[in-house]
Amino acid sequence: MESPSASTDLSAFFERIRPAVESTLQKLLPGENVTPSIVHQAMRYSTLGGGKRIRPCLCIAGYIVGKDDWSPILPVAASIEMIHAYSLIHDDLPAMDDDDERRGKPSCHVQFNEGMAILAGDALLTLAFETLSGVKEFPPERMLQVISSLSRFAGTREGMIAGQVLDIEAEGKDVTAAELESIHRSKTGAFLGGAVWIGAYLGGLGPAELGWISRYGECIGLAFQILDDVDDELDGSNRDEGKATYPHVHGLEKSKVIARELLHNARQAVAPFGGRAHVLAGICDYLEYR
Ligand code: IPE
Ligand code: IPE
Ligand code: MG
Ligand code: MG
Repeated sequence: MESPSASTDLSAFFERIRPAVESTLQKLLPGENVTPSIVHQAMRYSTLGGGKRIRPCLCIAGYIVGKDDWSPILPVAASIEMIHAYSLIHDDLPAMDDDDERRGKPSCHVQFNEGMAILAGDALLTLAFETLSGVKEFPPERMLQVISSLSRFAGTREGMIAGQVLDIEAEGKDVTAAELESIHRSKTGAFLGGAVWIGAYLGGLGPAELGWISRYGECIGLAFQILDDVDDELDGSNRDEGKATYPHVHGLEKSKVIARELLHNARQAVAPFGGRAHVLAGICDYLEYR
């Protein structure tokens, strides 16, 4: 479906951000020939040349609410994408979702092997924090806060790993609507919302403004996973696995309605920023009418 407000502005934003994120990742990831080359090949294989880069885009969209020049935040946005890439490599492993394909290519463990996929994931997570600790564009105390927050968004206390644990435990069981919401908020919402919060925080927003950003992040983060469930249901990929998904619990149509309401709430949350949040609002349109 075409967005009624399909903004060429937003496409222009994506067209500038994605190549910048790509070249930042290119530089930060060790070269394929660096010893031990096999793990660097696996890291580059699973990180470069694919993916929507939605988390880096959200991070930068949060940053430009407060600042005009977004180049200083690129290494931070790239670190967030490294953590995302790690999570996908591990998510696809036979012991997890056992998916042979990712982004239209063989998954990391299929292309390389299981051991190398585990290590490439571990290495991307480690490299993300090495990168963050070397960022000089922002004051050290700010970067320490970013590192601490990002660890929580990706961690086991209501963060991404918490959600993946609950997701595995829910497999083959009936979950309530509240349990499902909690799984999705933690497995995807926390990290996706965290990306925009970190951008806004480094962009210099104050506590009240960061509150609006958090609300936006919570809404868009949950909506994103619901829409991912909807897409998976439409192409059949979660159907046989007994996964806890919105279409399973609420049905397809109601899931779309819930996602739409959340995106509406996300837009409302950043409305007080006016034109400064036009990219954040545009990303809601992009998800709704993708
Ligand atoms: C996939 O994330 C996993 C979820 C949390 C739904 P994305 O849909 O952002 O994956 P890529 O990076 O674009 O491939
Ligand atoms: C992935 O969720 C969430 C992560 C934290 C990695 P899914 O398992 O639902 O995502 P896809 O469908 O494999 O991309
Ligand atoms: Mg999974
Ligand atoms: Mg999966």
